[in-house]
Amino acid sequence: MHALRGVPYLTYIPLRNKHPMNKLLSYAIGLLGFLASSCQEAGTTVVQEEMAPGVIRLSVGEVDRFTPYGVLGGNPMTEAMERLPKAELPFDIDDILVEVKDRGCLITVPLADGEQLYGFGMQYGTFGHRGTRKRPIVNDNPLNDLGYTHAPQTFYVSTKGYGILVNTARYTTFLCGSNTKISQNARDTEGNKGQIADTPAQLYANRAGGNKVFIDVPGAKGIEVFVLTGPELADVVKRYNLLSGGGCIPPMWGLGFKYRVKGDAVQDSVYRFARYFREKHIPCDVLGLEPGWQTASYSCSYRWSDERFPNHRGMLDTLRRAGYKVNLWEHAYVHPSSPIREALEPYAGDFLVWNGLVPDFLLPEARQIFGDYHRTLVEEGISGFKLDECDNSNIAYGSATWCFPDLAQFPSGIDGEQMHQLFGSLYVNTIDDIYRRMNVRAYLDYRSSGLFMSSRSAVLYSDTYDHKSYIQALCNAAFGGLLWCPEVREARSADDFFHRLQTVILSPQAMVNAWYLQYAPWLQFDRGKNERGEFLPQAGQYEACARRLIDMRMQLLPYLYHAFYVYRTEGLPPFRPLLMDYPQDGRLQSVSDQYMIGADLMAAPLYEDRPTRKVYFPEGVWYNFNTNERYEGGREYEVAVGFDQLPLFVRRGALLPLAEPVPYVDEQTVFKLRCRVYGTDEATCRLFEDDGVTYDYETGDFNIVTLEAVDGKVRVARTGDCPLRRYEVAGCEFVD
Ligand code: GAL
Repeated sequence: MHALRGVPYLTYIPLRNKHPMNKLLSYAIGLLGFLASSCQEAGTTVVQEEMAPGVIRLSVGEVDRFTPYGVLGGNPMTEAMERLPKAELPFDIDDILVEVKDRGCLITVPLADGEQLYGFGMQYGTFGHRGTRKRPIVNDNPLNDLGYTHAPQTFYVSTKGYGILVNTARYTTFLCGSNTKISQNARDTEGNKGQIADTPAQLYANRAGGNKVFIDVPGAKGIEVFVLTGPELADVVKRYNLLSGGGCIPPMWGLGFKYRVKGDAVQDSVYRFARYFREKHIPCDVLGLEPGWQTASYSCSYRWSDERFPNHRGMLDTLRRAGYKVNLWEHAYVHPSSPIREALEPYAGDFLVWNGLVPDFLLPEARQIFGDYHRTLVEEGISGFKLDECDNSNIAYGSATWCFPDLAQFPSGIDGEQMHQLFGSLYVNTIDDIYRRMNVRAYLDYRSSGLFMSSRSAVLYSDTYDHKSYIQALCNAAFGGLLWCPEVREARSADDFFHRLQTVILSPQAMVNAWYLQYAPWLQFDRGKNERGEFLPQAGQYEACARRLIDMRMQLLPYLYHAFYVYRTEGLPPFRPLLMDYPQDGRLQSVSDQYMIGADLMAAPLYEDRPTRKVYFPEGVWYNFNTNERYEGGREYEVAVGFDQLPLFVRRGALLPLAEPVPYVDEQTVFKLRCRVYGTDEATCRLFEDDGVTYDYETGDFNIVTLEAVDGKVRVARTGDCPLRRYEVAGCEFVD
C-alpha cells in the first residue's frame, strides 16, 4: 500500500526502495522541488509529484507541447479537494510502468480480479469497459463501439477507487484487460489452453482475461499520467471535477425547456412557435434557430439572412419581451463571405472544411477575432450558441470530408490529430469566454468535448438516435464531468416519443430538436406526415401530455439548480449512475439504464415500446413520484409509467421542493414551492439562491436556503447576504 496522507501537494518524489526511512526521505526531497528520482525497469526516469490534493502526476520524457491539461486545465479547486477523504491506492504507485519506446509511450497499470473500469468520455456502447479495447477518439459515429465518441477522454475510473488519466491529445488505445502480454505472466494464458470453439458464439466469447491495462500512445516522446485517488469511485470523479475547476452552474433559464425550430425557419415561423408555447401554456425558455438564420451555413458566414429574417433585431426584441432566450446554430468553419474570413487567414489551419477556414483556437489572435465578432451577436441578444460539426465527423465515411485531416497543420504548431481531440473544447471555451467576460452565464450546446470541461456551461448532443444508448451515455458522461442531452426529434410510435420526452425531461437539458420538423413532434411524430401537416388523431391529448411533462421539468427546476451547485462546490455530478451512490451494491456495476438526479431522485426511463419496465431499487425505501407507491430496496419491481408521468422515484427521508410551473424563468421569477416529505416527519433540503444569470455567486453573492420539515410544517432559513428571495414555501405534503 502506498500512503499519500499528509503529502505536500506541490512536489512529492518517492524513492523506489520501500524502507520506511526512505519513505521519509522521499517526502523531504519532494519539498525541495522537481528532482528526477526513480528508475523503472525500462530505464526511464519517472518524476512524481502530488499536483493537487489526492492527484499524483507521473511524468516521463519529453511531454508534448499541447496537452489537455496544459491547454484546458489549470484552475483546480484545491480547498474543496482537501476536504475529500484521503485515500490510498490499491496498488503501489511504482507498479504503474511508464515507458518511452521507439513506437511512442506505453503505460502499464495493474488490474485486480473483480475490478471494473468506467469512463473514456461519453461512450454509448459500453458501460463497464473491462475486457475491451477502447480508442477514445473524437467522432460523431461510435462505429462498432471502438471508443469513438463526441467527447472522448483518455481517462478511466475504477471500482477499486482510483482513476488513471493520460494527459495527451494523441489518439490513444487502452487495452482494458483485453490482452495478455506473454512476458508478463505465462500462466495467464493457461485458462484457454485446449479449448476448441465449435460455434461462432463460443469463438467470440473466448477472451483471455488480462490483469493489466496497457495504454498505447503512438508517436509520443514523453507522457504525463495523472493518478487520482478515491477512496470510493465517486470521490475519484469528484476529485476530477474539482481538478477541472468544479462543475458548472448553468443559468436558471437553461434548466427550463428548449425548442429548436426547423432548419429553414423564417422570422414568421419563429413568431408562430413563440406564440404557440405561450398560448398553449407549454413552458418554454429557449428557442433555437438552426442553419437557416445565416446567409451561408456550410461553411458559416455568421451573418443574418435578411431574406429569411428581414428584421432580426426587432424579432429578438419581441422574443425577449415574451420571455424567450434565443440560441443560434453554427459551426467553426468560416465561409469566404464571412466578415471575419480575411482577418482569420493567418490564424487558421492549412486545410479547408466545406471551403471554410478552420480557426486555430490555440492562438489568442484567432480566439479574439472569432470572439469579438460573436460578441456583437451576443450584444444583439443571443443567449447561447449551438456549436456543431466540431467532432471530426469524417472517420466513418470514406466519401465525406466533413473535417480537416489528421495531417493538417495549424500555425500554433499542433497537428490535425491533436487538434481534433481539443477542437470542440477550444471552440466552446472561445464562445463561453465572451459570456464570462460580460458576467453572464450561457448554456451552450456542443457536439464535441473532452477532458477538463466540467466547469463549462455546455451540453453535448448528437445525431445518433438510439434511445437506450442515449440513457447509457447520460450515465457514462458523469464519469468525466460531461453533460449530455438525449434530445427528442421524431419517433416511431407514441410510446417511443413519450419515453424519449420523459428521458430528456430528466436530463441536463430538456430539449426538443425539431430541426427537420415543421410542427411540434407531439402533434405528429412521423417525420413525413409532420412535414405535410397531417396531425395525429390524438394530437390534442398528446399535446396535453407533453405540457404536463414539461410542467414537471419546471417543478423540478429549483431542485436541479441546487444539484448543479453541489456539482460546482463538491464535484458530485448532478446526473450519475447508481453505482456512484451505492458502491457496495455489486449489482449496480452493470446498471446503466437508471441514474441518480441530485441527492434524492432516481430516474429509470422506459425505452422499449412497452408501458412498464423493471426497475431495480438500491437499499432503503423508495417512492413513486407519480403515485407515491412504496418500494423496498434491494429488489426489482415491474413499474408502469403513463405518457404524462415521469419514470422517477424518491428516496425515503427526502424533502422534495416542487415549484409551481412558470412559463419561463427570468431574474424576477419567484418559485412557489410545494414541498413533499417522503416517509418521515422531519427532513431538510437545501437550495442555492442567486440571481440565476451572472457569475456573482463566485464572489459570494448567493444564499443557501434551508427548508426544514418539522411539526407538519416547512420552516425556511437562509445563510448568505444576497438580498434576493427566489423561493417561497406554498405548501407541504407528507407522504408515507
Ligand atoms: C447537424 C446537427 C443537427 C442539426 C443539423 C442542421 O449536424 O447535429 O442537430 O443542427 O446539423 O443542419
